[in-house]
Amino acid sequence: MKIAVFAGDGIGPEVVHEAVRVLEKLDLPGMELIEGDVGGAAWRKHGHPLPQATIDIAHAADAILFGSVGDFDCDHLERHLRPEQAILGLRKELTLFANLRPATVFKGLEDLTTLRAEVASQIDLLIVRELNGDVYFGEKGVRTLDDGRRQGWDMMSYAEDEVRRIAHVAFRAAQGRQGRLCSVDKANVLETSQLWRDVVIEVAAEYPDVELSHMYVDNAAMQLVKNPGQFDVVVTGNLFGDILSDQASMCVGSIGLLASASLGETQTQYGTKGLYEPIHGSAPDIAGQGKANPMAQILSAAMMLRHSFGLEEQAARIEKAVATALANGVKGGDLGGSAGTREIGDAVVSAL
Ligand code: IPM
Ligand code: MG
Repeated sequence: MKIAVFAGDGIGPEVVHEAVRVLEKLDLPGMELIEGDVGGAAWRKHGHPLPQATIDIAHAADAILFGSVGDFDCDHLERHLRPEQAILGLRKELTLFANLRPATVFKGLEDLTTLRAEVASQIDLLIVRELNGDVYFGEKGVRTLDDGRRQGWDMMSYAEDEVRRIAHVAFRAAQGRQGRLCSVDKANVLETSQLWRDVVIEVAAEYPDVELSHMYVDNAAMQLVKNPGQFDVVVTGNLFGDILSDQASMCVGSIGLLASASLGETQTQYGTKGLYEPIHGSAPDIAGQGKANPMAQILSAAMMLRHSFGLEEQAARIEKAVATALANGVKGGDLGGSAGTREIGDAVVSAL
């Protein structure tokens, strides 16, 4: 079981350290961890946010445990050298096109949401975000118009096969949940979205047991705060998914607890190859202070065991240990508590 460990920037190394301790505590036979540099940290050492050596490690691994990338010191760099290119590059290089971002309210933490607790407590949704296409990966540039004005432009597009494969992932996810899928687009304005909607409807024919609905993205943003309990699985493109998944995470009020999986179609001898990362970013403001909550990173490791290694029992054990630590009042600053990174890691390890 080869696991690539890419800690990255900001709080990444601190929280990844705790997740690794949790994995080691499980004492899984044959587990091998291989570290690699990504993000601003990699740029400092090697002059590139995603060095070839890191790509090689990623290819050779069965799964990737990813921390976070992002570093204000790199804001002046050309786009291809910015830390974010590490995660974007890995998603593309490994064809990890399906991003699963579940959001649920943790028991006992209902008061953390900025929504009314009775609204937020209904949240149990999964956002399935497409990761390899859209305006993220289209041609882009800044050009000078005839009259001398500068114009920035980014090309938005989706090919039908790109929509079809993410739709299948979403329909299958809905089958394993409450059987409801809401596809989010902007088909009233965008051609890209109209094709998206047409293809999702075509794929729906293969899933008669799933109830499909469609929603414009602006309405979805509103419904997410008005009545988030209505959603089971949401499928959407790269840009809308980026925005809505941050929104959903704040609706539950604890971004420091939310993990995500990025999957493709590569099967290893253990399961589906994937990359696992917390939803929160590199949080440079608290980096290196031992304050960051490692729970989302630890829960990302649990997702990894489930999806990439078929170790459902061990994944559930980690999730239960996190819940136990929370129930014992071990909470990071993001949850209104005062426990530090190490202390939270200790609590999860001892609960295991
Ligand atoms: C995310 C992040 C990334 C994205 C950034 C870091 C490039 O916001 O994973 O949601 O936009 O996809
Ligand atoms: Mg984002």
